[in-house]
Amino acid sequence: MIKQIPVLIIATIFLSCSGDKAKKENVQNAEKAEQDTHSFAEPQQAVVKHLDLRLKVDFDQKNLSGIAIWTIVNKTGTDEMVFDTKGLEISRITLDEEQEETFFVLGDEEKFLGQALSVQIKPGTKKIHIHYKTGADAAALQWLNPQQTAGKAHPFLFTQSQAILARSWIPCQDSPSIRFTYTAAIEVPKELMALMSAENPQGKSKTGKYSFTQPSPIPSYLMALAVGDISFRKISGNTGVYAEPSLLDQSAWEFADMGKMVGAAEKLYGKYLWGRFDVLVLPPSFPFGGMENPLLTFVTPTVIAGDRSLVSLIAHELAHSWSGNLVTNSTWNNFWLNEGFTVYFERRIIEELYGAEEAKMLEVLGYKELLFTVKELGDKSPDTRLNVDFTGRDPDEGVTDIAYEKGFFFLKSIEEAIGRAQFDNFLKAYFNKYAFKSMSLSEFENELETQIIKGDTALKSKINAYGWIYQPGLPKNFKAPVSEKFIQIDELQKNLSVPAIAGLTSKISSTNEKVYFIKTLPQQLSQDKLEAIDKEFDFTHSGNAELQCAWYTLAVKNNYAAAYSKIEEFLIAVGRRKFILPIYKELLATPEGKQKAIEIYKKARPNYHFVAYNTVDDMMK
Ligand code: BES
Ligand code: ZN
Repeated sequence: MIKQIPVLIIATIFLSCSGDKAKKENVQNAEKAEQDTHSFAEPQQAVVKHLDLRLKVDFDQKNLSGIAIWTIVNKTGTDEMVFDTKGLEISRITLDEEQEETFFVLGDEEKFLGQALSVQIKPGTKKIHIHYKTGADAAALQWLNPQQTAGKAHPFLFTQSQAILARSWIPCQDSPSIRFTYTAAIEVPKELMALMSAENPQGKSKTGKYSFTQPSPIPSYLMALAVGDISFRKISGNTGVYAEPSLLDQSAWEFADMGKMVGAAEKLYGKYLWGRFDVLVLPPSFPFGGMENPLLTFVTPTVIAGDRSLVSLIAHELAHSWSGNLVTNSTWNNFWLNEGFTVYFERRIIEELYGAEEAKMLEVLGYKELLFTVKELGDKSPDTRLNVDFTGRDPDEGVTDIAYEKGFFFLKSIEEAIGRAQFDNFLKAYFNKYAFKSMSLSEFENELETQIIKGDTALKSKINAYGWIYQPGLPKNFKAPVSEKFIQIDELQKNLSVPAIAGLTSKISSTNEKVYFIKTLPQQLSQDKLEAIDKEFDFTHSGNAELQCAWYTLAVKNNYAAAYSKIEEFLIAVGRRKFILPIYKELLATPEGKQKAIEIYKKARPNYHFVAYNTVDDMMK
């Protein structure tokens, strides 16, 4: 696979005049990283434009089968077009309306990437019909039996395509820099409803047949499908929630502010261009908090805390409708361009709706996570740079607080350097100018240079983009955020005797405060303190997954036996990776803990999606 990158040559010539060798090499690396090394596709030769997907969902065989009909543009008149696949069984491929059978070959299986599918085409080929079915254990798919759902009566299926798993259920050019529109015809068992990242039905069809349209061009990682016993409830004019019937009331109550969120987001950075914004509440094995599938965000049920305390997650996925879904990271090395911008946007929505202190608390919690991640990776680790290189690795490794929080604090520091009004103008123009396009690191740097810095050398050094992007750890001019409410908790932590714990719930009441309190407790705690805290807050029996995760992690560290049965229950029921990893990690730190982890994992693993068990498997090795 040889890929030409003329931009690299230009950059090299240009930079060889400058003296700074390290800088030059770093920028060169960035250019190299801008090839998508996680896709076999060669879009400079022939590229997809539209997908017509026709699939049958078979819960007995646990597979999807049918045809992906790709409308393509053969740019160079090439006789070969390359797609990404992973575990797909391809039976035949035909071309154009005549459906003339053509040759194809699957390449060698490569770790993480799957297999290249090379299809023989003609200079004038317009359509490629790929007849296929998904393989056993297709990585994007999770097939749930009725027992794993809220209703316990019907099976459930959902997909998770980001980052490079779309290829395990659709043969596609699986790169975030390639966009296409789609239509789909999906057939499911009559008693179930199908939903996609597209314009969706609001009720079940009688026949089990559903058709979908996604009129805006999207990258493959935003392809999504869910099938189950699902109903819909309207929240506002253009927002609503889908969930299993028994969860619908709670879900609608929890997400009541969704309409307002869309309004706040539009006021900040321009019109919402996708039509509706609906959310689908998935069963608890969903491996992420949320996934920004266009028109239909997928969320974990652990966001339903009963008090609306975790809805910043909805703001986050909504924000992706601009940062990510409109302006898309060109490769997975640029993942921070999706997530850093989205965290910034998310906190602006929260500030708009719930006030500055609320947003500040999220910022400080994010900062704590960032410090933890930098420490864990090592502050000299190249993986703590925003410019990372995941070539030869699973891009999933890039899902760290570097992309989210270092990305956020970089943008926040630009905001502070130039003032909020100017930064808002910049962002609004950025989303508008690059809507439905992909964004590379060098394009971003160019925007920063031409729209913000504009030759002002003092401003340039103040912003220190080079330090943020190319240097590991946190830049010297990093300013730690401060929350007034959390300062009070810092004070309380100073004299935390057992008697002082009684009555703390009156001072530490919101979820954010409680999370902060747990995370700033001493790492080593006596049993009587743990008991006193639990007596006061009852964290062990909390229904709030953020609190449960923080508390259970601390409980394991301190061998607090009273929490163990709840911990086991939690790890078996919940498959959200962010929550289960820290607990497993803590368990694995001691020989007795490891034994426990192995026992629990035996029961829990069948409940996890590939994304989750793939990571836990690695830890258990
Ligand atoms: N797009 C991500 C989830 C993702 C990232 C899936 C990379 C696969 C690969 C989503 O927007 C996200 O960031 N989810 C977070 C929630 C958020 C509030 C930070 C999560 O799942 O925890
Ligand atoms: Zn995100």
